[in-house]
Amino acid sequence: MQKAGLRSAVAAVAVAALTVGASAQTIKIGVVNTFSGPQASFGEMIDRAFRLYIKLHADQLPPGVKIEIINRDDGGANPDKARQLAQELVVRDKVDILSGITFTPNAMAIAPIATQAKIPTVLVNAGTSVVVTRSPYYVRSSFTIYQHCVPLGTWAAKTLKKTFILVSDYAPGHDCQEAYTSSYTKAGGEIVGVIRAPVATADFAPFLQRVKDAKPDAMMVFLPAGRTATAMMKGFVDLGLKSSGIKLIGTGDIVPEEELPNIGDEAIGTITMFHYSAAGDRPANKAFVAAWRKEYGDKATPNFAAAASWDGMAMIFDAIKKQNGKLNPEKTVEIMKNFKTDQSPRGTISIDPETRDIVQNEYLRETRRVGGELVNVEIETASVAVKDPWQIMQKDKK
Ligand code: PHB
Repeated sequence: MQKAGLRSAVAAVAVAALTVGASAQTIKIGVVNTFSGPQASFGEMIDRAFRLYIKLHADQLPPGVKIEIINRDDGGANPDKARQLAQELVVRDKVDILSGITFTPNAMAIAPIATQAKIPTVLVNAGTSVVVTRSPYYVRSSFTIYQHCVPLGTWAAKTLKKTFILVSDYAPGHDCQEAYTSSYTKAGGEIVGVIRAPVATADFAPFLQRVKDAKPDAMMVFLPAGRTATAMMKGFVDLGLKSSGIKLIGTGDIVPEEELPNIGDEAIGTITMFHYSAAGDRPANKAFVAAWRKEYGDKATPNFAAAASWDGMAMIFDAIKKQNGKLNPEKTVEIMKNFKTDQSPRGTISIDPETRDIVQNEYLRETRRVGGELVNVEIETASVAVKDPWQIMQKDKK
């Protein structure tokens, strides 16, 4: 009885597969993502956002169209590995779209593959300005470091006259140093020291001691989000920089939502300029956070990479719907270039059709304990609909 039941069930599944197979179309998205190493939280945030968006919006896809996510782990900033993974996704798995790409060096390495194979690629993190210029098939849903660090410098110069800069010694860190210095010094601030810490730094004590000795008003930091930034945050307090009155400011990468419980109350008072906070008061953000907690539990909170991946998948859905499920690479990029929504958890966002880069608001935030939870409270919208300032500077140079 049981056996017969199983047999007919197997037969039924086989028939269903055949019927579906006849009309179904699967869009394959190859995701080069970071699931291991000190920045492994990106892997989970990006993957969860993609899967949640697909689950909640699958009924909007054209009939018979399915999406398949194929994940690969780059382990962090490993351009050779990332290039190889992207190559395999294109050649062996025959993906229609590439996405993920946490780190700038990986994005630089993958660009020629996207171009040669004509694969529309949605960058959901890598934030160095130049990245998006490296392939006409690149569209960025995340941010540029310039978008944060230019308004941060303008804001800081109002009350903090001397800044010590601490950045990770690779492209986004260099962008942050340049962007902050340009707006901060223009507004009358003085840079009293710069440290570029090796990307793999785990112990910040020697660097932080130098900052403390320089007695600046502020220490401005960019480090890739994750355990590295948390180690710096702890050191800032342990070495007495916080108690000596130095103000910790930076991009939101130093206080991502998932690390706040690990950092603890030491994070309170940190001022950051960023495009997304889970504490943002917008209805679309409240709905996003509620959906996230329903799916992943009350203690789970999406961060900026989750928001960029949610919006990145919205862009992919838009392209699929507008082409009725049959993707042409050029048309896909054309559609994505003109994407705009007021339903992003970040507020209104769009893609600048000229640069294929994200246009979004920047929020000034302060880390506080609210209702028992550490959150990044958006104090004000510092700038609205910000285009990448680096791209604007390049244009002005011509
Ligand atoms: C980057 O490599 O562009 C990058 C990585 C991690 C971040 C921000 C930017 O938190």
